[in-house]
Amino acid sequence: MRTTVGIVGGGPAGLLLARLLHRAGIDCVVLENRSRAYAERRQRAGMLEQGTVDVLRECGAGDRLDVEGLPHRGIELRFDRERHHIDFPTLTGGRGVMIYPQTEIVKDLIALQLAGGPPLLFEAEALAVESPLSDSPVVRYVHEGREQTLDCDYVVGCDGDHGVSRAAFPAGTYRTYAHDYPYSWLGILADVPPSGGELVYARGATGFALHSMRSTTVSRLYLQVPNGTDPDDWSDERIWDELAARFAVDGDWRLNRGTITAKSVTSLRSRVHEPMRHGRLLLAGDAAHIVPPTGAKGLNLAVSDVRVLARGLIELHRTGSTQLLDHYSQLCLDRVWQATRFSYDMTRMLHAQPDGDAFDHRIQLARLRRITTSRRAAAELAANYTGLPLGR
Ligand code: DHB
Repeated sequence: MRTTVGIVGGGPAGLLLARLLHRAGIDCVVLENRSRAYAERRQRAGMLEQGTVDVLRECGAGDRLDVEGLPHRGIELRFDRERHHIDFPTLTGGRGVMIYPQTEIVKDLIALQLAGGPPLLFEAEALAVESPLSDSPVVRYVHEGREQTLDCDYVVGCDGDHGVSRAAFPAGTYRTYAHDYPYSWLGILADVPPSGGELVYARGATGFALHSMRSTTVSRLYLQVPNGTDPDDWSDERIWDELAARFAVDGDWRLNRGTITAKSVTSLRSRVHEPMRHGRLLLAGDAAHIVPPTGAKGLNLAVSDVRVLARGLIELHRTGSTQLLDHYSQLCLDRVWQATRFSYDMTRMLHAQPDGDAFDHRIQLARLRRITTSRRAAAELAANYTGLPLGR
């Protein structure tokens, strides 16, 4: 098979890119190694920056989001048994965020794609990206039991942290920056209405907890736990008790408890792979960078990579100029490092350091106190949380 842009990976990044290219008249093929059912079930975050919402609307994937998405005008920070609302619109000149689960974005994009978009092959396992320095890079893949090739003008790797695309960068052409955090998150989904209207980020006495939501009837909550934690060691009752303790405030607030429908542990990592381009192979999203979940930047960063990349490929298609594409990596990495810094700072500010002492704890509380007493400090958090501008 031959196409202009071969897209490896049918998560939100690959599907959104296909949509943007298709609307500009550029042909592409998406290879997804999992089944449709699996791709639509993968649980991820659900906090969308304004720019992410804008691009989904722009490409025709905003209908359900506009009905079912929950607009949020801020978050709550909790520490020292106090509650503090950080109001984004007043701090950012009108910006907000939207809660709409990644699983739903993927469903919407798949439906659009299958209804007349460019080809999307499920259970098409990419084996390798070859000849990225030539004018015609190739993706080798297996589909329906046969090994096949996709000949492309460009290949975009949207195949995540464990995908094959990044492996096509030869040794010596890239560098990976890495940081591992000494704690993990135990995440649950529960059939219970959220306990309040907004997301709560708590520095409880024994560690971090986050109250998020998927809808008005489903809550998503997270607890900081030690690395290596087995979710089976945490009974439902123990989880609710620990969440309640970390969210506890002076005053009347109660945590709604309900049936837990999913439970998993994720470790917290930062990774940045530089550059994001090797010849005619370009990486986007988790294939190029991983952030810890605090602040929910992962999906939003993937979307901003794709917006820059689509602009570059469309400029090439319309004018023959590779100027934007040539700056793809640098344009994205500036923003990637800002989001990496923000996620790192949020993580460090809110989690109990396992080897930390009372001094570290006091510094964390001083940081939180600064944000809740200085408009300038709060505005800095709000600007990062709602999303920094695209490009320079
Ligand atoms: C969610 C996850 C996050 O890490 C975050 O900062 C906000 C929301 C979520 O899963 O809903």
